[in-house]
Amino acid sequence: MTEKKRIGVLTSGGDAPGMNAAIRAVVRTGYYYDLEVYGIYRGYEGLINGEIEKLLPRDVSGILQDGGTFLKTARSPRFHDDLNKKKAAEICRAYDIEIIVVIGGDGSYRGALDFSKHGVPVIALPGTIDNDIGCTEYTIGFDTALNTVMDSIDKVRDTAYSHERCTVIEVMGRRAGYIAINDGIAGGADVILIPEAPFNVDRDVIKPILECRNRGKRDFCIIVAEGVGNATSLCDQITEKTGIISRATILGYVQRGGSPTAYDRIMASRMGAKAVELIKEGKINRVVSLIGNKLVDFDLEEALSMKNELDVNMLKLAKIISI
Ligand code: F6P
Repeated sequence: MTEKKRIGVLTSGGDAPGMNAAIRAVVRTGYYYDLEVYGIYRGYEGLINGEIEKLLPRDVSGILQDGGTFLKTARSPRFHDDLNKKKAAEICRAYDIEIIVVIGGDGSYRGALDFSKHGVPVIALPGTIDNDIGCTEYTIGFDTALNTVMDSIDKVRDTAYSHERCTVIEVMGRRAGYIAINDGIAGGADVILIPEAPFNVDRDVIKPILECRNRGKRDFCIIVAEGVGNATSLCDQITEKTGIISRATILGYVQRGGSPTAYDRIMASRMGAKAVELIKEGKINRVVSLIGNKLVDFDLEEALSMKNELDVNMLKLAKIISI
């Protein structure tokens, strides 16, 4: 065994702004506490392949303000296979890496939990623009994505306003409506469609548009989370049923990129440092979470069973204030 405790850090799943800031905090806090930090490239894929490099404080210089993740990330179907997990654990032992900090979403947490059963424990950090991890009120990248989407809504609305059209903007969130509902409110949407709330196009889209038009409104903005269906076909239905020309804008990966906001940089730095502090305290298989603006930690398995229900009352608020 080497003298200093060695830890690994990797990013997994969809990239999120602030992941670099979190890696930087892990590396530098690790150095502060006299740990050796190893960067694992391409998430679990790189772990299986042994793509590992020692990181010193200067190696993470100049990345705080960068979007994406300099360690790269991946979704790794190969990691579902127990033989590959076993191989990855052997690689960790070969490098004397005793514990890994995993930055990602709940899919990455599940991989981490299964992997820990092969003898390499983990500490998980919430990193996803979707803000859809049950055990935490905040995930790294969410604030940046919210601001990017809000800015895009503002721009698209200029055209909708000038041409007196309806714009349908599709935002990310395959299973969660956090971006849709928050940006729907921030961007003044007339209608917001999210996976958590069932809807009917005639009742929940066409009717409110017609009512608003009768009250004198001339342009409309509909926000759709990607998990609820196709923005283009919704546009076609709106045009056909209301006579208002409608256009779809699918924001896609624009939402995952860009320089992290101050909030994301701060949260990522706090969470990254907290992960290392937990390691220093000898804790294993924990998840760093934000609850009531305080950093706490939960057992990984327990965390995966927790639900952070989206407050659907926000839909009511959105309706009231968009009238
Ligand atoms: O990062 C989260 C997310 O953007 C989800 O909203 C979306 O469903 C998913 O990732 C798509 O990711 P990918 O294109 O990498 O499969």
